[in-house]
Amino acid sequence: DAVELGQYRHYMQKEIFEQPAALSNTLEMLGTTHSVQPGLFGASAEPVLRAARQVLILACGTSYHAGLTARYWLEAIAGLPCSVEVASEYRYRDSVADPATLVVTLSQSGETADTLAALQHAKLLGMRHTLCICNVPESSLVRENALRFITRAGPEIGVASTKAFTTQLAALYLLTLTLAKLRGRLTPANEGKGLSALRHLPVAVGKVLELEPHIRVWAERFAMKQNALFLGRGRHYPIAMEGALKLKEITYIHAEAYPAGELKHGPLALVDQDMPVIAVAPNDALLEKLKSNLQEVRARGGELFVFADADSEMSASDGLHILRLPEHYGQLSALLHTIPLQLLAYHVALVRGTDVDKPRNLAKSVTVE
Ligand code: G6P
Repeated sequence: DAVELGQYRHYMQKEIFEQPAALSNTLEMLGTTHSVQPGLFGASAEPVLRAARQVLILACGTSYHAGLTARYWLEAIAGLPCSVEVASEYRYRDSVADPATLVVTLSQSGETADTLAALQHAKLLGMRHTLCICNVPESSLVRENALRFITRAGPEIGVASTKAFTTQLAALYLLTLTLAKLRGRLTPANEGKGLSALRHLPVAVGKVLELEPHIRVWAERFAMKQNALFLGRGRHYPIAMEGALKLKEITYIHAEAYPAGELKHGPLALVDQDMPVIAVAPNDALLEKLKSNLQEVRARGGELFVFADADSEMSASDGLHILRLPEHYGQLSALLHTIPLQLLAYHVALVRGTDVDKPRNLAKSVTVE
């Protein structure tokens, strides 16, 4: 391979640890500006973004999870209705198109067949305003979109996507701030705060990566399990989905993600001492509700692994393990909470001895249906 592994054992490990650099390269184009620039999405972006009345995000796999996370931002911060669809479903569904929709396709490779076809489908339905967020500038997807944002994660070799995902999230947050500003929903103070939160990401992610030794210990406890349940609420539910996907992709442990409020509607029946439950639990408005969901798990003998914040009022006890992220990070906490889940999947795979970079039956880029 042209990309050297250097000090790392696997590309996935290298790519996880490259995230601070991938984020700072992606955000470099912000320069020192104190205001968001629609031009970052293309020379003709401003009128198109200003005219958007809703957003439709189309993607597959990990990119789809980035879209699901962004929906929470787009609705809460930019006040735009947003739907997120798996590209392979959208392209065959009879849906109702609104020409005032901004269609956003997300893809690391820019070559995923279903994502390209879903974009064509949206265009045929009359939706002409399209934007892609993609990691490969010369890809088919980029050629199909007048508006584009190129993430600068660098080549991603590991089949399980890591740095492409977090750079997509950074780009989607920037898109949210831009749309919010054009819609008059962003005060100058919040614009400044949003931009500095983005600029601080490389440092913040670097600090989360330092949790690795603790996660390695957790991974030992997981390695012999057959199933795992991931829980989150709000914008951390898609992060729980991404954590479950990472685990199943590279360790072959069956993992499912649930919004914690749905626990009683099914998955609680599965909880026993053999089912580890991983909770994404930063301090936010939903934390108290999540805590009561977690009590339900404990009461049934489930072993809990909780990713909390520095100042979360939660304490470890028998069967309840807590790892605290160094900083509380508001809306972007979703991005930070992804990192320990990537590390967890990676270390569980090491213990189980699976092929981390080339999991069985999976391809890096799915260019056929
Ligand atoms: C495959 C890869 C995933 C990726 C998905 C979408 O399933 O294994 O890691 O998330 O395709 O790929 P894209 O290049 O469109 O983001």
